[in-house]
Amino acid sequence: MKHLLSLETLPQADFKQILQSAGEFKKNRGNSTSQPLAGQTWALIFAKSSTRTRVSFETGIRELGGNAMFLNANDLQLGRGEPIQDTARVLGRMIHGAIIRTYAQKDVETFAAFSKIPTINALTDDEHPCQILADIMTFEEKKGSISGKVVAFIGDGACNVPLSWIFAADKMGFELRIAAPASLQPGQDILRRAGGKISCTTDIEAAAKGADLLYTDVWVSMGKEAEARDRLKILAGFQINRRLLQCANPAAMVMHCLPAYRGNEIDAETFEDHADTIFTQAENRLHVQKAILNWAVSS
Ligand code: CP
Ligand code: NVA
Repeated sequence: MKHLLSLETLPQADFKQILQSAGEFKKNRGNSTSQPLAGQTWALIFAKSSTRTRVSFETGIRELGGNAMFLNANDLQLGRGEPIQDTARVLGRMIHGAIIRTYAQKDVETFAAFSKIPTINALTDDEHPCQILADIMTFEEKKGSISGKVVAFIGDGACNVPLSWIFAADKMGFELRIAAPASLQPGQDILRRAGGKISCTTDIEAAAKGADLLYTDVWVSMGKEAEARDRLKILAGFQINRRLLQCANPAAMVMHCLPAYRGNEIDAETFEDHADTIFTQAENRLHVQKAILNWAVSS
């Protein structure tokens, strides 16, 4: 039984296999007769908002021959207190796979253990594995192997997106620099577990120096709305803009997982200068997730 719960637990060979197969799904879109999800129903169980993840998974499941069922977690009895263990055991007897977006990482893990069906993490407070797979696919399409390259993450260094970057670094052989305010840096335990060449700083220019990729994410992640005022103050200055880009490799790419808040984590000019890359990242969610689904159902 294969689950994609975290990049930390995704074996390196599977990481690379998913990326390679994503390229093939992209190239063959519209011409492939392969239907690895034929006869299957997959549920998307989402407790947080989504545009890209929801639409790309629903489209991908249909293109692979399966049926997609969207379930708002709050409309389920789960939202009225039914335990996740019971929800998982019910759904596990009815459907063939689950894609879950929620708060606690432990809930995705519990669902996988109790449902006994392939389970995919579509974002938790701790990780966003599908996003980083699509990001690396996007980088490698334009620049070749990411191995030996320098990735600089600027912004909230303690949220799901940078944490998944941390678990990708050693497996894919790139250097990762995280520039974040002292109170929003990743925990030491995570860095120790991940290994690899990763540094953390509060100096955005030091992080960006010579970097091949500048990456950012929202300052106020879903679930952190009560901290919005403080975060906007603490994170002021941790922005990707044209001035910061001057420190990077002149051929550096700029990426954003979206949604973007112009004037906060990125300025409007830099966003538009790099819009082609950013929307290719969004498109690649579809191709990479078809590869993940195919991987999850193959032996
Ligand atoms: N990047 C991303 O996961 O977008 P959504 O929240 O729209 O799914
Ligand atoms: N860190 C962001 C990612 C959105 C795709 C959040 O969790 O809201």
